[in-house]
Amino acid sequence: MSNSPKQIQLIQPDDWHLHIRDGEVMKDVLVDTARQFARAIIMPNLKPPVTTVALANAYRTRIEASLESLGIVRFTPLMTLYLTDNTSADEVHKAKAAGITAFKLYPAGATTNSDAGVSDIKRCYGVLEAMQTVGMPLLVHGEVTSADIDIFDREAVFIDRVLEPLRKDFPELKIVFEHITTKQAAHYVRDAQTNGKNSLAATITPQHLLMNRNAIFAGGIRPHNYCLPVLKREEHRVALLEVATSGSPRFFLGTDSAPHSKGAKEAACGCAGCYSAFNALGLYAEAFESVGKLDKLEGFASLFGPDFYSLPRNTKTISLVKQAQSIPAELPLGDETIVPLRAGEAIAWSLA
Ligand code: DOR
Ligand code: ZN
Repeated sequence: MSNSPKQIQLIQPDDWHLHIRDGEVMKDVLVDTARQFARAIIMPNLKPPVTTVALANAYRTRIEASLESLGIVRFTPLMTLYLTDNTSADEVHKAKAAGITAFKLYPAGATTNSDAGVSDIKRCYGVLEAMQTVGMPLLVHGEVTSADIDIFDREAVFIDRVLEPLRKDFPELKIVFEHITTKQAAHYVRDAQTNGKNSLAATITPQHLLMNRNAIFAGGIRPHNYCLPVLKREEHRVALLEVATSGSPRFFLGTDSAPHSKGAKEAACGCAGCYSAFNALGLYAEAFESVGKLDKLEGFASLFGPDFYSLPRNTKTISLVKQAQSIPAELPLGDETIVPLRAGEAIAWSLA
């Protein structure tokens, strides 16, 4: 493939990290996601969180009902459970039997609706043992939560204090280091020794490939560019783009598209999360094209994710065309509105 084509064809991608919420909001966001992706890992940080197989099954039923009411037939939600200090090993076995795809570790207090998260990973060792045994992946929000650690350092410190010891204790546990944002995380995952096992991977969002932390403060405070983990310095963006476009199967697409209403973002204490689902693929294409690596997009977006999760690759294809798409200033979100990432601007690539 030439690296400046006007159109590219890909096996249909999946989104390996997505927030769709619930109720009427869920309908609006499912439309955007299902236009581009065949499957998505559905995050469990609802209020209250999805902590049991029974809650996940009920959530799946609500998602399927929404899809049906929207006339969307080709989209599969992949369900996750929210790990707490009280999750039992038995729940892991039930989850495996029920076709739950993964468990999510939110360190308590790290981000939106994480209060019920894990206070100390050591409390979960019995559960992690069961996960390792049955081959249940652990998806990790990789930030420490101590107030004395600078917010820009929380991911790097998490690697040393939590992730590295965890991988030593559970060498065969499948771990996805979610939405990585730093050079340290990119290089840790790239260089990790896994003894030939497919046991460590990372997802990367479009905003962390396209923006650095200046974007939060460009001419004034920009709440729609605020997410967690927060955007970092340019050197980190460059390192993320390098590993994402390297062709390494350890890095794959996870938008972390996280809808919050315009009002909840434009507030004295605004919520964390960027809504990228409207044209996420266009954003990733722009990032890959910026370093002449469009030929590496299909692996990142469509192949390495299913391979890591031992799921079949999609067979249908989609095409992206180099045709600017302007992003609306606002989109409907239940009975409110949402400001999508890059609102009022153009994205160079769009779905054919
Ligand atoms: O920015 C974020 N928003 N980061 C997260 O980890 C959670 C997410 C959300 O649920 O809004
Ligand atoms: Zn997330």
